[in-house]
Amino acid sequence: MTLISKGKSPFNPGQPVPVELFVGRQKQIDHIMVRGAGQVEAGKPVAVYIQGEYGIGKSSIAGFVQALAEERNHLHAIYAPLGGAENLDDVGAAILEATLRSGAFNPTRKEKIRQWLAKYVGEQSLFGFTVRADALKKDAPTVASGLLPFLQEVMNRLQETGVKGVFLVLDEINGITANPKFAHFLKALVDTNALSRTPLTLMLMLCGVEERRREMIHHHQPVERIFDIVEIEPMSREEMEDFFKKAFDSVHIQVEAEAMNAMTANSAGFPKIMHLIGDAAFWLDQDGIISAEDAGSAIIMAADEVGKKFVAQQVYKALRSADYHSILAKIAQMTPTTMSFRRAEVIAGLTETEKKKFDNFLQKMKTLKVIRSGETQGEYVFNMRMVWLYILLQSLLRKPAKK
Ligand SMILES: Nc1ncnc2c1ncn2[C@@H]1O[C@H](COP(=O)(O)OP(=O)(O)OP(=O)(O)O)[C@@H](O)[C@H]1O
Ligand SMILES: [Mg+2]
Repeated sequence: MTLISKGKSPFNPGQPVPVELFVGRQKQIDHIMVRGAGQVEAGKPVAVYIQGEYGIGKSSIAGFVQALAEERNHLHAIYAPLGGAENLDDVGAAILEATLRSGAFNPTRKEKIRQWLAKYVGEQSLFGFTVRADALKKDAPTVASGLLPFLQEVMNRLQETGVKGVFLVLDEINGITANPKFAHFLKALVDTNALSRTPLTLMLMLCGVEERRREMIHHHQPVERIFDIVEIEPMSREEMEDFFKKAFDSVHIQVEAEAMNAMTANSAGFPKIMHLIGDAAFWLDQDGIISAEDAGSAIIMAADEVGKKFVAQQVYKALRSADYHSILAKIAQMTPTTMSFRRAEVIAGLTETEKKKFDNFLQKMKTLKVIRSGETQGEYVFNMRMVWLYILLQSLLRKPAKK
């Protein structure tokens, strides 16, 4: 095998997209900038909920608008991922650490924040610094219970830099929304600020799936009214093309039309899948041109990746019985091109025991969001092309497990 040297892959399947490669979402960005950042700059606090399914691009758009709002509206961006947080003290610690790490877009602000919060800075290294976990933990409850005064102090410290507001993003809220205190905390934060004589110019943004927002409302009904909801939907074909073009152009690789068609059709609007397919194609390519064949292999590699992470862990695990697995394999082989199937047609090809389990199977698959009901009665459609493709590949490569 000849080893050709490759530069850095422009694809990041596991991370929010860097600003240079961000595509699309113009309508949502305009909305957030005008109704959100613009209002905050003018003195009115705003709370936004970025809503969309897993991997659709919530964190990416949050990062993108934070950068824009720093530049255009003079807001100070703080990005706090709450993954792992279970109680309000954990939330306080995450926000304190995020504040300490803020200022990436503006060296003067970064410096002022570091000086103010120096006691939490541990060891300095070439690549940044570590955080003193003990000190952080000790003060976290104060930050959580006094978040408004804390953020007001951020503003005071940055006053000379012309700051007009704080743009706080709370991301990865999956764990914390289960705690009823979090819903009360948010509502109190927003209300206390609104009622204050001089409200803090705070842009609060949460990112999450719809179920998490519903969970908070379930814990505390008034949460329903605090957020302006911005829905992130699957990307259009133009947005996907734009992305592939931008990304491959940046590393001087050409994409043939047929390959482009295959990559966008299989990404089906899911940015995460675009990155998986693009990354596989980038590494497969040998001649600086992505051909239909390269794209085909990349799609299969991406399907395998999606399958290992999603289908194998969530779908196959939930469908424990061997009958379910063989029903799935039969369906995949019956729907090689359309991704949709009819109940009656599948039933005709099932064994007697499979037939008995079929309706339960459909129900489970719907709950898992693998399929949804189609437009006509008795029709079902796979939600994600990659999932369907993986199931098809598995059914072709391996015989269903026998018990
Ligand atoms: N507008 C965009 N342009 C290009 N790539 C994008 C865009 N939005 C998201 N991506 C890419 O899609 C993938 C998923 O994005 P991101 O992590 O932002 O989604 P998410 O909705 O926050 O996911 P999760 O539900 O896992 O938190 C990442 O690989 C990211 O780089
Ligand atoms: Mg995210």
